Amino acid sequence: MSDEASFDRLTAYIEENLGFATSHYNDSYLQRRFSSRMRRTGSDDYAEYLEHLRDDPDEERELLDTLSINVTGFFRNPDVWEGIRSVLRRLSEDCDRIHAWSAACADGREPYSLAMLGLDDPRTAGDKLSVLATDINQAALDDAAAGVYENTRTIDVGEQLTFLSNYHRYVDQTDDRFELRDPVKEMVAFERHDLINDEPKSGFDLVVCRNLFIYIDNEYKESMLQTIAESLRPGGYLVIGKAETIPPGVKSEFTILDGRLRIYRRQ
Ligand SMILES: C[S@@+](CC[C@H](N)C(=O)[O-])C[C@H]1O[C@@H](n2cnc3c(N)ncnc32)[C@H](O)[C@@H]1O
Repeated sequence: MSDEASFDRLTAYIEENLGFATSHYNDSYLQRRFSSRMRRTGSDDYAEYLEHLRDDPDEERELLDTLSINVTGFFRNPDVWEGIRSVLRRLSEDCDRIHAWSAACADGREPYSLAMLGLDDPRTAGDKLSVLATDINQAALDDAAAGVYENTRTIDVGEQLTFLSNYHRYVDQTDDRFELRDPVKEMVAFERHDLINDEPKSGFDLVVCRNLFIYIDNEYKESMLQTIAESLRPGGYLVIGKAETIPPGVKSEFTILDGRLRIYRRQ
């Protein structure tokens, strides 16, 4: 069987049996992720890997993890977070409660950044803010709920947190380990949600959905952004990743607040 045909069989198997919508993701993204699992399992090609996947339930879990876990950080792209700060200030003036949704939140650093910024900024009403944080990956959500992060060789958590005036107010640090304090954790609720297959939500004042669309095939971005548009109240704010764009079919749902920072408002 050709490499292309066995790639298609593998993606079809995953879509049908593992509940992960491979058809929506870029082939290059999927290939990178499969290659990493193939190396780990000693599989020489997609067909051999598929056999392995069918026979080993542990491999299902490993693959789903590999397909969905991704890079994230506290206050990733600090210039965008300055834009989010302005949005939170406006919402603090206009709303009695602020409902924010961090969609595709990975291991929680993004929603916790929102919560801490709400508490830290003197012109933002942190006590009005609540954050729903969702992801397709349950393991990432479990890590997120624990709220513990560690420095690695390449990631300096403390450095990322210096976006805040004094991060020690929100985080207990022991050497390389950072644990979010309860008042921050209590502002964030975690829930599994698949932006491709699950229903829209409703009434959000702010949705932050960053660095997921870069992995999604163009033809499917539109329906995912439609899900997000329906989840926002009229006038609500949307922040997408800095390298991402709103597809033409849903552009009419939004006005641009800051094109460079990719901040929009629901019409
Ligand atoms: C690169 S991370 C982005 C994390 C964070 N938003 C950021 O920008 O730092 C992409 C996240 O999208 C999640 N994801 C992938 N497909 C998804 C889907 N269909 N629905 C919801 N989340 C998804 C992955 O599990 C991963 O946690």
